[in-house]
Amino acid sequence: MIDSTPGLTPLSDGIGVALTGLRISKGADRETINTIVTLLYRHAVVCIPDQELTPAQLADFGACFGKPIHHTEADLRLDGLPGVMSLSNADNRDDRQLNGGAHWHTDLVHTDEPASFTMLNAIAVPPSGGRTLFADQVAAYEALPQAMRQRVDTMTVIHCYEARTDGSMALVRHPLVRPHPVTGRRALYGAADTGIGIEGMSGDSARQFLLELAEHATDQRFVYRHAYNKHDVVIWDNSQLLHSAELLERSRSPEQDRIMHRVSVRGWPQGEL
Ligand code: OGA
Ligand code: MN
Repeated sequence: MIDSTPGLTPLSDGIGVALTGLRISKGADRETINTIVTLLYRHAVVCIPDQELTPAQLADFGACFGKPIHHTEADLRLDGLPGVMSLSNADNRDDRQLNGGAHWHTDLVHTDEPASFTMLNAIAVPPSGGRTLFADQVAAYEALPQAMRQRVDTMTVIHCYEARTDGSMALVRHPLVRPHPVTGRRALYGAADTGIGIEGMSGDSARQFLLELAEHATDQRFVYRHAYNKHDVVIWDNSQLLHSAELLERSRSPEQDRIMHRVSVRGWPQGEL
């Protein structure tokens, strides 16, 4: 609900906006959700500061945006809530989980229906590091020379999440350029390291092409780095950006803890467009 006059502040020259004046713990009405959804479509990343939420409150808030995705690794679920996951450097989870998000990716791109929005609520924030990097894929697409845009427009990428590990997971195909499901704006989609091939192209050429494209897509000029304040809620629109966590050290004292509660959803609300 609205707590005081809502305010908007850009987070960078490109993507990202901060929205103040909300108190999510008291619930969010349809109008508020519509406003946030519209901001997500316009700015790709929305930060709502100062939201101290229980996992159940975060779950309820997340469910206003779409269908919560139940995380496959049950031991990462919080408080018996299948849609809320804990990201933490403060427990003894293995290295793959500790730095599972520290590579450029689109959430759930290795499934038939990837996530639309993901949101993190910052429970503990270390004094340095622990940021999330967001690369604007609309700008990256628009910055390509026209001949290259035409070329990528028709390409289909073959994704395998475990391309980064043992290659045993299913292959999924997605267009390399995707008009946004609601706004229609074109963006590079999933031009990152889950891509292992391009339909109709030999393996080696495809891998080389994707490597060069990923370098372009994550160039500094497209990147916003979000440094969290405790209790931020940060939401992003996966169809417009790539994101990556910064590499984390395992925490050795409470001040170094980085703990995020996370909800990821499927579905495309209309907003006010
Ligand atoms: C994620 C993710 C980034 C981060 O939760 O999907 O990529 O900074 N997180 O923790
Ligand atoms: Mn992610």
